[in-house]
Amino acid sequence: VEADRMRVSVIGTGYLGATTAACLAEMGFEVLGLDVDEAKIEMLRSGRVPFFEPGLDELLGKSLKSGRLNFTTSFSEVAEFADLHLICVGTPQRDESGAADLRYVNAAVEQLAPHLNRPAVVVGRSTVPVGTAATMASRLAALAPVGEEAELGWSPEFLREGFGVEDTLRPNRIVIGTDSPRVEKAVRALWQQQVDEGVPFLVTDLQTAELVKVSANAFLATKISFINAMAEVSEVAGADVIQLAEALSYDDRIGGKFLGPGLGFGGGCLPKDIRAFMARADELGVEPALSFLREVDAINQRRRARTIDLARQLIGGSFAGRTVTVLGAAFKPNSDDIRDSPALDVASTIASLGAQVTVYDPVALERARAEHPQLNYADSMLEAARGADVVLLLTEWTEFREANPDELAAVVAQKRIVDGRNALDPTFWRASGWTYRALGRQ
Ligand code: UGA
Repeated sequence: VEADRMRVSVIGTGYLGATTAACLAEMGFEVLGLDVDEAKIEMLRSGRVPFFEPGLDELLGKSLKSGRLNFTTSFSEVAEFADLHLICVGTPQRDESGAADLRYVNAAVEQLAPHLNRPAVVVGRSTVPVGTAATMASRLAALAPVGEEAELGWSPEFLREGFGVEDTLRPNRIVIGTDSPRVEKAVRALWQQQVDEGVPFLVTDLQTAELVKVSANAFLATKISFINAMAEVSEVAGADVIQLAEALSYDDRIGGKFLGPGLGFGGGCLPKDIRAFMARADELGVEPALSFLREVDAINQRRRARTIDLARQLIGGSFAGRTVTVLGAAFKPNSDDIRDSPALDVASTIASLGAQVTVYDPVALERARAEHPQLNYADSMLEAARGADVVLLLTEWTEFREANPDELAAVVAQKRIVDGRNALDPTFWRASGWTYRALGRQ
């Protein structure tokens, strides 16, 4: 089989799976995407992406047209079609314990395995607690008619929402956890173009591969909370965390990325991944090794509280009966994902304290409306800001970064703004008569 005609199945068509499927088809592979959600499969078949991801619509349309990408809900069909199966299902937070919910990963393996009648390679891409893959490998071999010839490896992905296409087509590294030459060969064939272009290809054991993913996310979360801890200190010490971060960034051992102080991290990955990592460390008896992540989480939560405090101070101490505008609902710009969105968390808390809160977001309104019906929603920034006692910028969309302070001033009741993402130029806004407050600055 020629590498570029290799047939691949992608199990799970959420953010990760749908992006992976379309990108692999773009790279020349024959791809069959599977999801148990019929409605999602119908949408994808008709060329519609069920979520907002820049560039993915176009790629999906192109891949469907080329005939290289198809979708199904049938496990027997994917088993018949492909020799390489990628598991891209979600691993949400299970409950209060913070542990990962592995039910979708388990179900994917259990439903695929009975159909594997010829040698097959199954590669997990989902983020899982260390130790999961080894269990899955034995489960797969036990359930598959071909037995040990159904082999499992783990190859975490590192794509960012909003940059999913770019990060998949041009990853900064490929990691495959396996001790099987056949699994390694299949994964190498998948990324041959990228490897030829110089993308590092690392072969590790299963446990290391699983750990690479969670430790990368733990590091990123730690970096964000580090600078947010410096913001807390700056607030009381009279310093400016933006200048501090810039000065730190010129030391290339530190670097400037993920050193942006503000409302902190949210989304479907960083928050749940650090909690699942701590829960796993606890199970493994190495809880102290990750106890610092509890602080990382706590610092992150305190930024939300501080943002609310700044707004409350600006309006004289109480939210009761006040009109509040929240700009942003997505957990970050270029995404319609509202999972653990700091913006919506802050908006809901302020509403629960008695204010009328109106939210505007360029793409996440529909999702926000469905999950937070107690908030008001507006279809534009200016409409949302009408009559506001205070405006909070909580997701740094370009539209907000480039907002005209005079235009906004014309519709609000009071020119007061809390910049929760340090996205605006304070001098510019103050010059237009606004009372401007931000996290980590005076
Ligand atoms: C994250 C990782 O960055 C990806 O590498 C990883 O593959 C992915 O999780 C995953 O596990 O699937 P993502 O959740 O899409 O990606 O979002 P990020 O771009 O990492 O942003 C996370 C949060 O951190 C956002 O709420 C963002 O606003 C916040 N952030 C980011 C800051 O508060 N400050 C910064 O300087 C950077």
